[in-house]
Amino acid sequence: MTTVGIDAIEIRTGKLKLDLPNTFAPEKGDDPEKYTKGLGLQDSSFPDVYEDIVTMGANAAKQLMDRKGLSPSEIGRIDVATESAFDHSKPVSTYIAGCLEQVYDGDFRHANKGERKFACVAGTQAIDDAYNWIRAGRNRGRAALVICTDTALYARGDPGEATQGAGAVAMLIDEDPDLVALSDDQGYGSMDETDFLKPNQQFPSVDGKRSMQVYLARMREALEDYESVAGKIELDDFQYAPFHTPFPGMVRKAALLAYRHVIRDTEREEELAEEIGRQPREDEYEDREAYEEAIREHMDELKDTEQYQTWYAKTVEPTLELSSKVGNWYTGSVHVARVSALRDAVEKDLDFAGETLLVGSYGSGAQAEIHTETVQDGWREEVEALDIDEQLAARYDLTWSEYEDVHDVHEYDEDVGHEMIEQFTTPSEEFVFTGWGRMNERQYDYVE
Ligand code: CAA
Repeated sequence: MTTVGIDAIEIRTGKLKLDLPNTFAPEKGDDPEKYTKGLGLQDSSFPDVYEDIVTMGANAAKQLMDRKGLSPSEIGRIDVATESAFDHSKPVSTYIAGCLEQVYDGDFRHANKGERKFACVAGTQAIDDAYNWIRAGRNRGRAALVICTDTALYARGDPGEATQGAGAVAMLIDEDPDLVALSDDQGYGSMDETDFLKPNQQFPSVDGKRSMQVYLARMREALEDYESVAGKIELDDFQYAPFHTPFPGMVRKAALLAYRHVIRDTEREEELAEEIGRQPREDEYEDREAYEEAIREHMDELKDTEQYQTWYAKTVEPTLELSSKVGNWYTGSVHVARVSALRDAVEKDLDFAGETLLVGSYGSGAQAEIHTETVQDGWREEVEALDIDEQLAARYDLTWSEYEDVHDVHEYDEDVGHEMIEQFTTPSEEFVFTGWGRMNERQYDYVE
């Protein structure tokens, strides 16, 4: 059977940045280390006044199509994953296709377009849809474009405001991919949860602490479900573990739990037993409370062991590099984590083709998904082609009052139009938002 997976990726960050320790923390009266050490964040990307989910998604897609030399007729499917849609009927993929048709010969008339919704896991679901479409032989030799695009903004003053971000990830899903092949095996953890939602509102209602517990619970279930089909996961089975990263501190917590789970009943647990004892087993305790207390103490000790720290530094820490500079991109976040891991492999000059990634996606509401990916021969060229460092360096650094203004521009309830404040950067060779049409549709132009 032919392999199916991600052939190419392009990333597009919002063109502004908010510096959390130096601009955000002083205004909130917080210790900057709450952001850098606690949450693990340095900056968040923010959209300029002429940017939104369509411009960022279309710009990422154009960059990808140009680099791969693709024309619209070679794309049979465009799926957009987003939590920031502004239209309950017309999918964002139609807006993005409309943008792309402004600059390419030909059109996407015969491509199947849609929009996927399940909070941040929707991007991974859209990849799944493309994978199934290709495997079913319905693609007529064409590839699929999956675009994850979000302006992950919170209401001013919400605790989530520290974890904002804005950006898009465009991925080409195809047969015989250059970057990674997707595993057939998958695991799910899925429950009706009320942790983070947007019931007909722009900014989320969030129960922050609960959302973190739900993330960990669903992720553990997905891991167990994955193991039930693929067999027990061993630490040496994978080189990196890119996970959904709402902020790096969240993944730090998930990694410790995953490590405890994976080493249970293995030689590694025995090796550690001499130092910190075996992991507590529930049947050894009188009640649940005593057991949970013992687990907490054990985890505190586990976190500080050399064995754990060495594994974390090699397998997880490198996946968080970009996220710490851009914040949460919701649907794009796990795909940014994958790119961070692959960039680390380039930096370390690893002989990486054939190696495995353990990928953990998560969406509030809530659902986690685990699968593995096998790195393909063309991976290095694909990763070296990314220009994300240049994009990050070019971001405009917002002052606090500029941040307040631009947040208002993007807030639908505020009467601040995009034309009412100066743009901070000058668009060049990209799609921009130009205003509303007669049916309240959003309109876009390509700026040379
Ligand atoms: N030095 C070092 N660390 C510090 C510190 C200091 N001076 N001050 C605080 N910290 C640490 C805290 O101890 C804490 O770490 P631990 O959790 O390990 O104890 C961390 O910094 C954050 O501090 P608080 O818990 O006090 O922060 P908060 O209450 O203001 O908000 C939050 C944190 C709840 C995550 C909030 O940012 C939020 O609501 N975020 C949005 C929801 C979210 O991202 N949830 C994640 C799971 S849901 C999901 O993944 C879907 C999604 O994308 C949204």
